[in-house]
Amino acid sequence: MRKLADTCRRKGKTIGLVPTMGALHDGHLSLIRKSAKQNDFTIVSIFVNPTQFGPDEDFGKYPKAFKSDCDEAQTAGADMIFHPSVDGIYPDGFQTFVDPGPIADKLEGAARPGHLRGVATVCVKLFSICKPHRAYFGQKDAQQLAMIKSVTRDLNLDLKIVGCPIVRTKTGIAMSSRHSYLAESGLKKAVTIYDSLKHAKRLVKAGETDIAAIRAEMTGLIKTATGAKVEYISFNSWASLDEVNLISGKVLISLVVIINTVRLLDNIIIHSKH
Ligand code: PAJ
Repeated sequence: MRKLADTCRRKGKTIGLVPTMGALHDGHLSLIRKSAKQNDFTIVSIFVNPTQFGPDEDFGKYPKAFKSDCDEAQTAGADMIFHPSVDGIYPDGFQTFVDPGPIADKLEGAARPGHLRGVATVCVKLFSICKPHRAYFGQKDAQQLAMIKSVTRDLNLDLKIVGCPIVRTKTGIAMSSRHSYLAESGLKKAVTIYDSLKHAKRLVKAGETDIAAIRAEMTGLIKTATGAKVEYISFNSWASLDEVNLISGKVLISLVVIINTVRLLDNIIIHSKH
């Protein structure tokens, strides 16, 4: 992989990297298309990274679809699929981790301790192996995107992190590889999640700045779907992720809702003039 990246660079070709864990859907494909548009050579990595899963999480049963992933990635513009083994990335004696700092302790970091440390570590390794000029991340995982931007800046990594908008199904659900865990009835319930985010945006536009009021309305809306449980609804300034008490400037509203034991993440970034 490194030799190929070196050859690309020597020829003056730009490299785009799209890190993924596979089971590709339209969200991933939108990142690949963007990279193919902006770079001469697009690498898609497919690697289910064990260090970002907690001991009781779904590492062992994470969905896999390698053959169709390759076809779909290629159609979207990928020039190469990088599919390393776990031993290749974490050989015996591996002991170095990237600690992203406090940005990784809140939100998903609080719910999944060590998760973002594992993400940061594998991404820095992928950057070092694939030598991209640009790497593409979805706003679907907004904290991950903010954290990678912060790590890249703090460690003077020589690449640009490109954030990409959330791709949704026709009914507004943010696409996710983990949807394969949800039955059709669960997906129907998940529609209220984006409804609640759009409602929050409308409230802010109408002048609402009180977070408690917005959270209460969002929770009410989500709970109209039977069995949907709100794990958190958070308000953080974008992209520092500092918690905010009032809506002002660029604010990330992010939430996790549990439907049929599946954690569903979604978010919206609102630009308030207040
Ligand atoms: P994975 O969940 O496979 O996602 C790969 C990339 O696709 C991430 O940048 C994610 O934000 C983006 N993505 C997922 N769903 C999306 C959607 N509906 N719209 C737009 N983008 C979407 O995120 C990871 O893998 C891993 O943590 C990884 C970065 C590969 C490190 O292991």
